[in-house]
Amino acid sequence: MSTSYGTFPGSRPRRLRTTPAMRRMVAEHRLHPADLILPAFVREGISEPVPISAMPGVVQHTRDTLKKAAVEAMEAGVSGIMLFGVPEEAKKDALGTAGTDPDGILQVAIRDVKAEVGDGLVIMSDLCLDEFTDHGHCGVLDEQGRVDNDATLERYAEMAQVQADAGVHVVGPSGMMDGQIGVIRDALDQTGHENVSVLAYTAKYSSAFYGPFREAVGSSLQGDRKTYQQDPANARESLRELALDLDEGADMVMVKPALPYLDILAKIADAVDVPVAAYQISGEYAMVEAAAANGWIDRDRAIMETLTGIKRAGADMILTYWATEAARQL
Ligand code: PBG
Repeated sequence: MSTSYGTFPGSRPRRLRTTPAMRRMVAEHRLHPADLILPAFVREGISEPVPISAMPGVVQHTRDTLKKAAVEAMEAGVSGIMLFGVPEEAKKDALGTAGTDPDGILQVAIRDVKAEVGDGLVIMSDLCLDEFTDHGHCGVLDEQGRVDNDATLERYAEMAQVQADAGVHVVGPSGMMDGQIGVIRDALDQTGHENVSVLAYTAKYSSAFYGPFREAVGSSLQGDRKTYQQDPANARESLRELALDLDEGADMVMVKPALPYLDILAKIADAVDVPVAAYQISGEYAMVEAAAANGWIDRDRAIMETLTGIKRAGADMILTYWATEAARQL
């Protein structure tokens, strides 16, 4: 029988899509629970978890519910947890001192989770001032109200030390200050924390998709972060950020957000020999949940498709608010 499929009539890719077992066998990429990292918010001074309206299913945890969430993630096979602290409003100030207080909420949460799961999860912490400053910026401000790069680095060095003292395995500097990785590495090494790793937010774009996160951490930010986060128009610039971060000692690198930046993720994954993470952020989560709640898309398939796409683009690890749920399904 002749076909009109061109010069190679025997070539029919659809043969490899005929059954679920066949498709499974020839799958080029597979998600595994260990690929997943759960970002989690813990808020000071609350006795019940507080739902985040723009992220249905995600809450600001109490210290207790955070511990439970960590155990559930671990039992589902998730490999890590990324902790974000939300201090009491009255504790925010211009320098974000609650972020470097050994008894600040993030340090308390690190110790809580460490006591609960030990080394059963890789415990990571957001290393950034925005949750702790009354102006909501990721750094401290100069007299003109601009984010002062080098003054911020001193704060980050201190943050690295207190987070490491609290027992974190990995710090995640997310503030996009120039030189932050080197300063943090030095601070860790000089305080006996040579084994604490640095997961650099290497390519972090100034994104509208962080919107729901601002609610999640009760952010005080007016304005935007365009003078320190990257411009969505730029790709090559990410390779420059990457070279700097690796040179300064980053152990792992991250691209963020994920879906609108899969090209950047693929480029970075091709270029490096360190593990690469991608952060599927709050707005990516909210979009899928909102469309699914309206009955417009199949929620479970959409979740797995986004995660698979991020993996296919080159991520070794994915930070996702669906980590525990997805891990259970895998
Ligand atoms: C900064 C930080 C942000 C996120 C993670 N770390 C917010 C920002 O840069 O504005 C966003 C995560 C998300 O949107 O899910 N501390």
